[in-house]
Amino acid sequence: MNIDILLGLQWGDEGKGKIVDALSPGYDVIARFQGGPNAGHSLEFNDIKHVLHLIPSGIFHPDKINIIGNGVVIDPAVFMQEIEGLKTSVSELSKRLIISNRANLILPSHRILDAAYELQKGNTKIGSTLKGIGPAYTDKVSRNGLRVGDILRKDFMKLYECHLKKHMTILKNYDFRFDLSEYEKGWFEGVEMLREFQIITTEYYINQLVSNNKKILAEGAQGTMLDVDFGTYPFVTSSNTISAGACTGLGISPRQIGEIFGIFKAYCTRVGSGPFPTELDDDTGDTLRNIGREFGSTTGRPRRCGWLDLPALNYSIMINGVTRLFMTKADVMSGFKKIKICTSYIIDGRETGEMPFDNNAKIEPVYTEFQGWEDNISGKRKFSELPGALKIFIEFIEQHTGVPVTLVSVGPDREETIIRN
Ligand code: GDP
Ligand code: IMO
Ligand code: MG
Repeated sequence: MNIDILLGLQWGDEGKGKIVDALSPGYDVIARFQGGPNAGHSLEFNDIKHVLHLIPSGIFHPDKINIIGNGVVIDPAVFMQEIEGLKTSVSELSKRLIISNRANLILPSHRILDAAYELQKGNTKIGSTLKGIGPAYTDKVSRNGLRVGDILRKDFMKLYECHLKKHMTILKNYDFRFDLSEYEKGWFEGVEMLREFQIITTEYYINQLVSNNKKILAEGAQGTMLDVDFGTYPFVTSSNTISAGACTGLGISPRQIGEIFGIFKAYCTRVGSGPFPTELDDDTGDTLRNIGREFGSTTGRPRRCGWLDLPALNYSIMINGVTRLFMTKADVMSGFKKIKICTSYIIDGRETGEMPFDNNAKIEPVYTEFQGWEDNISGKRKFSELPGALKIFIEFIEQHTGVPVTLVSVGPDREETIIRN
């Protein structure tokens, strides 16, 4: 079984980019399977921070192949910007980055539709990144999409115009002003650039690699609580962010999956609207945001912060079949006197460990309180060196999830990573 999956267990931004980059030396291929430019995956090394949106987080390792799978939605304008930004630090990009011809395109008009739909929602808005994700996936599922492979067709412009016309008809029903030309110029330049890359049937390519015993790391985007089926619908993204999404988003069989790495922050964050039972609307929440630099990697929006939520974590572990847990950002809570973990919810006077269906349910979290740790842990490189109070915190999580925590991230740099034997 040569394919491992790494995915987020919370509401995104768990540190996927950092950890995929840190684990890349152990793999031959890194592949994104869903989402699109709504993702912002940060990684740091040599004192430089990079943020990736569409390109897999293995790109900085010169000997690795990176694949954008069929489950991803690609905005050529964002793709071009990202490639331009990488040109100075990454060589032979077009040889090492391979794109599925089945990946759907985000058109300029998808971004406009995204904004028009959000505006119409008023105070029930999702808090979308407005990158065109929802409308692009909608067109995919309703069989109205354009795919990356279509840009190689002679009649591509005709196809584009035909899609644009449909979108303009929809937009007539919205009182929404927009300037399409603003997006179109960069988009068409991006299409030109995309044509310079290898656009292939990546499902054949990946399965061939698997047959040749190559090791593949599938990199999730967003998080399980933003999954379109199992997240806090409708306050979710439009793709399957879960382990099953790696199979449909890359064209691989569940039989090929080995480890499923579930990544979570030692607390919780969420950007955008929707339920967040352990949210801290107080000084502690502000402290987490400031020390943890909890501002969106894609939109710069402040992230909502709160305590670790075990009912949500256990739900995610169940849906994904997580085999190992990776914990990030415990260093942010160094110096906290008390730290809390939510172990269950009280809903309508009843205690439960399950996620409710109803987004409007009034949830009262039940907490267990822990002693904090004083030490700055960012310099630690061995699990045995971590403070006793943090080990107790980790043991509690392992006991209440039944899954071992085998990686602890203690800072944003790729070196600030403890792998537990
Ligand atoms: P992703 O979307 O899951 O890749 O996560 P983001 O990159 O959006 O957000 C995670 C943020 O936390 C980034 O700024 C990372 O550089 C940073 N980060 C990742 N792991 C750690 C960690 O263990 N400690 C600290 N302090 N920061 C971290
Ligand atoms: P990474 O991969 C955090 C959130 C948005 C919004 C909802 C729908 O960096 O973890 P969309 O743009 O998909 O229509 O937004 O999902 N969201 C994310 N939140 N991290 C992300 O990606 C996200 N991608 C989307 O804020 O609430
Ligand atoms: Mg992110």
